[in-house]
Amino acid sequence: MNRRKRRTVIAGNWKMNMTPVEATAMIKELRPMIKGRRACDVVLCVPAIDIPAAVAAAKGSRIKIGAENVHFEEKGAFTGEISAKMLLSCGVEYVIIGHSERRQYFGETDATVNKRVLAALSAGLKVILCVGEVLEQRDLGITNEILAMQTKIALQGVSAEQLKNVIIAYEPVWAIGTGRVATPEQADEGNGVVRKTVEALYGHDAAEALTVQYGGSMNEKNAADLLAKYNVDGGLIGGASLVASKFAAIVAAAEK
Ligand code: 13P
Repeated sequence: MNRRKRRTVIAGNWKMNMTPVEATAMIKELRPMIKGRRACDVVLCVPAIDIPAAVAAAKGSRIKIGAENVHFEEKGAFTGEISAKMLLSCGVEYVIIGHSERRQYFGETDATVNKRVLAALSAGLKVILCVGEVLEQRDLGITNEILAMQTKIALQGVSAEQLKNVIIAYEPVWAIGTGRVATPEQADEGNGVVRKTVEALYGHDAAEALTVQYGGSMNEKNAADLLAKYNVDGGLIGGASLVASKFAAIVAAAEK
């Protein structure tokens, strides 16, 4: 990471875990653990049903609350979907878009990711955009091309001003939930490809100011080594974000 140039952001992605009661308990436990230094931003992206409880539990603390997805239309006949305006009205500041689980299991495409990014940004949400290759693509030697393509399509129509509200998370799909973390070098390289792609679109300064997270089996043990890399400006953390002490240890690693 490079704190002079950009914000370090540690974000949790709870996925389909935690009831509202459990969310409240976890955040209450976490709060005292991360008091003090504020060298990084702390975000918890939670299931939609947990948002009111999480926002209430985080009130007055440094923890910002995010959602795990958003629909691209403002309103209408889209059963089960949630709009950016609805999220904002509940106190949500961030939203994850294009997570590989949405791409794999719910038919998300680069084109719908782009539509969601545009809708979220124009409504005033901050976006955590996820990109990442699957193992077959890495084995074929096309990781860099995949990352560049996903990044470019997702950012179509995003202005330089709007880019300031975008974080990109490089999440190699083979590292998610598998315990097989990328090496710090692999994380730095993938994040570097994302930054280079953004540089080609928005210029050097915008790319250097962009927060690029790494995600995929990041935990309290490996976080410091990953975050030591120049291009790793934080983490998007799944499993380890469900346990207050583990998540707090990652925040501490980011504040060293
Ligand atoms: P894990 O940390 O559980 O591997 O999940 C990473 C992830 O998908 C975060 O979005």
